[in-house]
Amino acid sequence: MTPTLSSIAEQLQQAGQSHLLGFVDQLDESELQSLLQQIAYLDLELVNQLFAKHGDANNPTSLNIDTTSNHDIMPPVALRLDEANTPSGVTRSQALAEGERLLRAGKVAALIVAGGQGSRLGFDKPKGMFPIGPVSQRTLFEMLANKIDALQRHYETTIPLLIMTSPSVHDETVSYFAEHDYFGLNDSIDFFCQGTLPVVDSRSGQILLQSPHIISVSPNGHGGMIEALVADKLLDKYQQAGIEHFFFGQIDNPLSPTCCPELTGFHSLTDSAVTLQAVAKQDAQDKTGNIVQMDGRIQMIEYTEMPMQLAAQTSPDGKLNFWAANIAVHIFQTSFLQQLAQDPTALPFHTAHKTVAHIDHLGNQIHPAKPNAIKFERFIFDALSVSPKTTVIEADRNLVFAAVKNQASASFNTVNTCQQAISTLHRNWLIAAGVQVDMSITVEIDPCWARNAQQVGERPDLPQTIKSDIFLTSASSTAR
Ligand code: UTP
Repeated sequence: MTPTLSSIAEQLQQAGQSHLLGFVDQLDESELQSLLQQIAYLDLELVNQLFAKHGDANNPTSLNIDTTSNHDIMPPVALRLDEANTPSGVTRSQALAEGERLLRAGKVAALIVAGGQGSRLGFDKPKGMFPIGPVSQRTLFEMLANKIDALQRHYETTIPLLIMTSPSVHDETVSYFAEHDYFGLNDSIDFFCQGTLPVVDSRSGQILLQSPHIISVSPNGHGGMIEALVADKLLDKYQQAGIEHFFFGQIDNPLSPTCCPELTGFHSLTDSAVTLQAVAKQDAQDKTGNIVQMDGRIQMIEYTEMPMQLAAQTSPDGKLNFWAANIAVHIFQTSFLQQLAQDPTALPFHTAHKTVAHIDHLGNQIHPAKPNAIKFERFIFDALSVSPKTTVIEADRNLVFAAVKNQASASFNTVNTCQQAISTLHRNWLIAAGVQVDMSITVEIDPCWARNAQQVGERPDLPQTIKSDIFLTSASSTAR
């Protein structure tokens, strides 16, 4: 039913958000109807509750969880890189064999979250469409699809790909894949769209207007994926199709080890509800989430919420006690996702203080120079608090992590650092296989050509020397 102006006005008045109708006199009929629909969709009570709980003008970094008191926080029990066996006695070779078996049997799907706004990168399309291949200029989406394609060919299997979008990027994402014939993954991709929540002014709690008839909203966080999966009945669909495990990754890490057989095998053989891949923190200031053991359970603490006296703690050999960085590479048992789906809104909300352009009460465009607004997000890792069993496996950062988040002016997670990491890794694979590679050139390897150092060494067409930038791909080895 179309909401009426008077009923909406009453709801807004009760919620203290009447300013949203401040420009109705200037709107044409379709703009007015659109605005009323947007307001009708809002959960005003929830927004006000969240602001009352988290909004604090005097403390813009107010903690989402209280890590300062009454918690027993320890480094996580984990399989470190320098250890041969897990506490449960599974060896790496056993894990690899099990992961390969599961892939061959079609028991594994990939779920990639790509619904973020990519505001830090400042790219005006969905982040997945960013051209990141250091030589090929393949986009993040294309690099992801190529990884899955390579695994499918190698294991003669199908790996369903689920891509989470959000309303502002959904249509463009789907069209992009369609225009590129789904990069060869035609029948095995599902796109599903997460929900949004309004953005509020961080001092007043008032919902911001992007324009006189458009409310400023942002996606409800990667934790919104549970609600969105349920809405589209995707968990049931894939459970019925025999999918037992979901690899979870983020679109902005082109080195993310999508459906890594060894990680999947550890996850399966340890009968874990969730398996987290961790990398070692570079230093106490490393801007990655902390995987910790809190009150006896593996949990995540955001770097902004980790007390510095804990983050900086070292052991006698000088190494960080809290070494485990989260790179958002997880594997979930389907049955655990189904457990979460019983109450898809159970994950708590976190706040992010962001710089958001909007209009003021006079209709003037405001472009703040510093954070002025609060976005509310659910994080998928909060599911750890109800996970029956969580396993942590360390990986070498150089092999699995090269996120692209920031513009060139930043010192980390930029396009440049990401491309350099890819090129360095692939160059090292070639050098290990005996190829002479000029150190000044850029190197990129298509996963269909080789997925790791071992496969590079097995290539019959391995060049002996590489002297100019090169993209090694199955179609042809393309020098640029
Ligand atoms: P980030 O929060 O690191 O990046 O999301 P972002 O949202 O893409 O960019 P900023 O913060 O606005 O600069 C990490 C991953 O989670 C996904 C993103 O698409 C990215 O893959 N994500 C984030 C979602 O899918 N939905 C969200 O609501 C938030």
